[in-house]
Amino acid sequence: MLNAVERKIEQFIEELQDKEVSSLYKKLPQGKRLRAKLILKIAGSSLPVVKTAAVVEMIHAASLLHDDVIDDADTRRSKPSLNALYGNKTAIMLGDILYSKGFFELNNISADVSKVVSNAVTQLSLGELKDVSLSSTFNLDREIYLEMIYQKTASLIEASSGAAALLAGKPKEVYMTYGRNLGLAFQMIDDILDITQDAQTLGKPALHDFVEGKTTLPYIYLYEALQDDEREKLRSLHAKALSKEEQGWILSNMKTHKIIERATLEAKTLIDEAIAVMDAHGETALSGIAKEMIERDF
Ligand code: IPE
Ligand code: IPE
Ligand code: MG
Ligand code: MG
Ligand code: MG
Repeated sequence: MLNAVERKIEQFIEELQDKEVSSLYKKLPQGKRLRAKLILKIAGSSLPVVKTAAVVEMIHAASLLHDDVIDDADTRRSKPSLNALYGNKTAIMLGDILYSKGFFELNNISADVSKVVSNAVTQLSLGELKDVSLSSTFNLDREIYLEMIYQKTASLIEASSGAAALLAGKPKEVYMTYGRNLGLAFQMIDDILDITQDAQTLGKPALHDFVEGKTTLPYIYLYEALQDDEREKLRSLHAKALSKEEQGWILSNMKTHKIIERATLEAKTLIDEAIAVMDAHGETALSGIAKEMIERDF
C-alpha cells in the first residue's frame, strides 16, 4: 500500500504544474517512509488515509529540506542534499512548496485531521528553532532536550498516529500517547546513530551533531559521568570541527561510561511503554512498527 502513497505524492506534485518543482522533487531520494507506514498500519488504506500519509511524508520531506539548511548538512538519504546541490534558496523554497501543498490537501481530508497535523507542524518548527538556540549553548538539561525533541520530531509522529486514529474511528488520545513515545525514542536513536554509525551507513554526516553545537542525550550523560578536568575538555570541544584524535577521545569515553547503552535503554523503555499502551487496547499488531522505530542502523 505504500505504492499508493507514492503515487498520491506524485499526483500532488504534478498538480502544481511546475516543471522545475517536478524535476527537483524527482531528485529527492525516498526515505524509510516510517510515518506513512505507521498511518497505514493504524488506519488501513482508504483514500483519506492514503492522502493523509502522502501529506505527512511531504511535510516530513519539507522539514528535512529546511533541516539540512539549518544543520549545514551536505548529504541526505545517501545522496548530496538539495541545499548542497542547488543552494539554500532552492531548498528553502521547495520546502515551503511541499509544506503549503500539504496544508492545502489537508483541508480536503477533514477538519479534525487537518488540525492535528498542522498543529504538529507548528510544534516541529518551534522545536527546530529551539534546537538552533540551544546549539549556541552547552545544554546539559535533559528536560530541555526532551522538550525540544518532543517538539521537533515526536509531535509529527504523535500527530500521524492521532490522525490515523481519527480516520479509523479509534480513540485518538491513546494513539497519540503511543506516537509520542515512538517519536521521542526515534529521535533518541537518531541522536545515538549520529555517534555510533559512519556517514556511509547513515546516508548523512556522522558525529555531526556535537560539531553543530548539539548536546544530545549521550553528551548530557557523558558530561555527568566525567571528572572535572574531562568535563572541561568536553566543553572545549563543543561546536568545533573535531580532529580524528578528539573524535576518538569522545568515542572512547562514551564506551568507558557505557553511555550508548544507557541512552539506548531509555529509548527502549519508551517503546516498551508504547507497546504496553497498545496491548492494553487490544492493538497487538502495532508492536512491530514500534520496534522498527528503534531497531535500525540509519
Ligand atoms: C529523519 O527522519 C529526521 C528525524 C526526525 C530524525 P527519518 O529517519 O524518518 O528520515 P527518512 O525519511 O527515513 O529519510
Ligand atoms: C530532526 O533532527 C529533524 C527534523 C525534525 C526535521 P535532526 O537534525 O537530528 O535530523 P537529521 O539527523 O538531520 O536527519
Ligand atoms: Mg539534521
Ligand atoms: Mg536538525
Ligand atoms: Mg540527527
